[in-house]
Amino acid sequence: MLIVGATSAIAGETAKQFAKEGAHLFLTGRNPDHLAAVAADLRVRGAAWVETAALDVADVASHGAVIDSAISSLGVIDVALVAHGTLPNQKRCQEQVEETVEVLHLNFTATIALLTLLANRLESQRYGCLAVIGSVAGSRGRRTNYVYGAAKGGVEIFLQGLRGRLFQSNVTVLTIKPGLVDTPMTAGLRKNALYADAGRVGRGINRAIVGRKDVVYLPWFWRPIMAVLTSLPESVFKRLPL
Ligand SMILES: NC(=O)c1ccc[n+]([C@@H]2O[C@H](COP(=O)([O-])OP(=O)(O)OC[C@H]3O[C@@H](n4cnc5c(N)ncnc54)[C@H](OP(=O)(O)O)[C@@H]3O)[C@@H](O)[C@H]2O)c1
Repeated sequence: MLIVGATSAIAGETAKQFAKEGAHLFLTGRNPDHLAAVAADLRVRGAAWVETAALDVADVASHGAVIDSAISSLGVIDVALVAHGTLPNQKRCQEQVEETVEVLHLNFTATIALLTLLANRLESQRYGCLAVIGSVAGSRGRRTNYVYGAAKGGVEIFLQGLRGRLFQSNVTVLTIKPGLVDTPMTAGLRKNALYADAGRVGRGINRAIVGRKDVVYLPWFWRPIMAVLTSLPESVFKRLPL
């Protein structure tokens, strides 16, 4: 299993589930010390083999070498989990174009670049699962986080097409749509009853990968919530303080 953004809280909880099953894990992240700590923890939890590599996803030119090194270590990639992401300050994005461009580069453009390489590798294996963490924010643009939502929504459209293409090569493409999760990404936000802990989401991702699902909402209750929110007409939705 290859995990991109392995220092993410949600990715870490997912990795724990696979470690328990004795998985071979290739972890990438941009903070070597944090990555080493995650790797050490996963070895203790039962992972059969763990290797790490530095990868700043924003550096698109470096993707190919890291994927090559994951494949030469793992032999075959059964599962690639793409978990990196940043949640921007929407107001700053509105005021500074540079901030918007940076957020879109990491969460959309560089992510698509990475998925393009991974998709080709999995397609040539004719086997595997490409699991990508999107967000319920990608289902409908809201006034309070539409730059992040646009990036996530764009990735999800890309994954829809990719799913149809890779289906013919026995590769599953899983879109993971968490709602609100209590992780470092949301540390500065006020919590409410809708927040889930990362462990619950990680267990859900593990089940969805093993079950070869196409799309999963985590926790499950976000599916009906988003069904309602996406069915509202724009004339109503634009008036909601969401
Ligand atoms: N938390 C939520 O409510 C929520 C809801 C829906 C979707 N999500 C999505 O879930 C995923 C995981 O987020 P999380 O909640 O687990 O938050 P997190 O713990 O803050 O993880 C975010 C991860 O992204 C990594 N990252 C940021 N920029 C990067 C870059 N340029 N290159 C490589 N890695 C980079 C961070 O690495 P560093 O450790 O080096 O900063 C960190 O590992 C993200 O895609 C996020 O958008 C989260």
